[in-house]
Amino acid sequence: DKLHGFLHALPKCEHHVHIEGTISPELLFSLASKNEISLPSDDPAFDSPATLLARYQNFTSLDDFLHYYFIGFSVLLGVSDFEALTYDYLSLAYSQKVYHAEIFFDPQAHISRGVTYQTVIAGMNAAKKRAAVDFPKLSVEFIPCLLRHLPVPSGHGLLTELLESGHFFDGTLVGFGMSSTELGMHPSLYKSVYEAAQSAGIVNLTAHYGEEGPADYVKDALSILGVGRIDHGRRSIEDAELIAHLAESNTMLTLCPISNVVLKGVDRMHDLPIREFLDANVRFSINSDDPAYFGGYILENYCAVQEAFGLAVEDWGKIARGAIAGSWCSPLRKEQLL
Ligand code: HPA
Ligand code: ZN
Repeated sequence: DKLHGFLHALPKCEHHVHIEGTISPELLFSLASKNEISLPSDDPAFDSPATLLARYQNFTSLDDFLHYYFIGFSVLLGVSDFEALTYDYLSLAYSQKVYHAEIFFDPQAHISRGVTYQTVIAGMNAAKKRAAVDFPKLSVEFIPCLLRHLPVPSGHGLLTELLESGHFFDGTLVGFGMSSTELGMHPSLYKSVYEAAQSAGIVNLTAHYGEEGPADYVKDALSILGVGRIDHGRRSIEDAELIAHLAESNTMLTLCPISNVVLKGVDRMHDLPIREFLDANVRFSINSDDPAYFGGYILENYCAVQEAFGLAVEDWGKIARGAIAGSWCSPLRKEQLL
């Protein structure tokens, strides 16, 4: 498609990428070796980087992916591991003209195996500091995610530790999110956690919903949790009233097209409601989610959407402006990004 040059040159905002989802099979194996971590010996997928990569082509669902995703965490130990992972992502994203990146990470899944929150954030911050020198047009923000497969009290414990760090109020953390398994995990389960976050003064709240779960989860996340953004939100299209509300309130959905196809949320890219969201003026951004697992960074996601939908330059202008407007950065920074 002749728009691919245009799409490459288009300045981008990425709002939905999990830093732990950027670990390639090669890096996973080399860190396992360096850190003397043994990988599962009862799963032939872990025979080699190539067999692991091949297994990623056969994901059947979000939960099937999450099983491998959390095994990948086990090889990340020291500050330098998190620094290298984050710097490599920022370098690749910048090469695809990402000028503003909001990066998710999952502290509970590190803390639970003895890697402290301070270790993780120290590595990520070191990468951000180097990026400020090496990638001068790039702004970087970090968003911790509560993990839904763990008990709610663990989520409260995480929020308490994060609040005690002071990092929500010194520019280290830009907001608070929630991810992991979705079906059966109704937003009401996390009402007390989000209330505590709001009471403590955290302004930017988001949550993964509508990836596998129904539109009602999206609607209830907005009303019960008070989130200002929805990660994925794909299935919002099943509720016309919700669509009207998303448009009217300028609530941004952080869509992840290749992720939805690889995890079998949709059969084909063409089945995503991209055209419908555009026509209904629902604000959305296009993101990579877990690029090392799903086989595409942000530009590959933009190009896959273009191939499926044949959008016009004006459509991309609308997407790009919406992504800037929906970013968690200052009005001044938004003007620079325009
Ligand atoms: N959905 C839920 N949890 C996740 C995802 C996702 O797309 N990526 C990493 N953790
Ligand atoms: Zn995600």
